[in-house]
Amino acid sequence: MRPQTPPLFSPQTFSLPNGNEVFVRQLLPGDKKLLAEGFEQLSPETIRKRFMNLRKGFSEKELVFLTELDGIDHFALGASVIEDGQTKGIGVARYVRDQTETQKAELAIVIVDKYQGMGLGSFLMQNISQIAFESGIEEFTGTLERSNLGMQKLLKKMKGFETQLDSEATYLQLRANLKKWKS
Ligand SMILES: CC(C)(COP(=O)(O)OP(=O)(O)OC[C@H]1O[C@@H](n2cnc3c(N)ncnc32)[C@H](O)[C@@H]1OP(=O)(O)O)[C@@H](O)C(=O)NCCC(=O)NCCS
Repeated sequence: MRPQTPPLFSPQTFSLPNGNEVFVRQLLPGDKKLLAEGFEQLSPETIRKRFMNLRKGFSEKELVFLTELDGIDHFALGASVIEDGQTKGIGVARYVRDQTETQKAELAIVIVDKYQGMGLGSFLMQNISQIAFESGIEEFTGTLERSNLGMQKLLKKMKGFETQLDSEATYLQLRANLKKWKS
């Protein structure tokens, strides 16, 4: 059921293998610069895997859409680190609720290349799944390239998360049963 109020997410930390801390919290309107700068750190391959195209960056309008969230129908977690005394955005996991089937939401996730393969993607997935579940979402949907082994590996570790080939056998469609994940 679609809730009346946004879920509460208490900021968390995640330790990288080198011991450095990653700060994870809900994305806020003031994060536009962090998001735009984080995008600059993505390789073309990561951009294509996340957006299914080779976009160059975000327009002002897109940054508004990506950061000014109601928390109910659109929710995102942002991950950041301190590098040389400066905060850097290094990952985002988000979902957008389906307008008609409100128990469903589309999921997307990206980690800056330099920080991939260190467990952060799994950490964000666990946390965003929990928030979504508490917010009445029972199913995540999404699309990924067939060649996206990193995402496929991550999904395999999540109970209830499955992929199937789309009708044109070009992409994999993600289906995640959050009730099963939670059980
Ligand atoms: C997919 C993605 C979010 C995973 O994040 P991550 O922080 O690298 O994930 P984790 O470190 O938690 O790793 C999860 C598993 O995937 C594996 N993995 C990560 N990147 C991989 C890669 N490029 N190739 C093969 N396996 C990879 C890890 O080894 C790990 O498996 P393990 O636990 O058996 O060792 C990240 O690689 C990414 O941003 N990819 C580009 C964008 C994208 O594909 N988004 C998904 C579509 S919306």
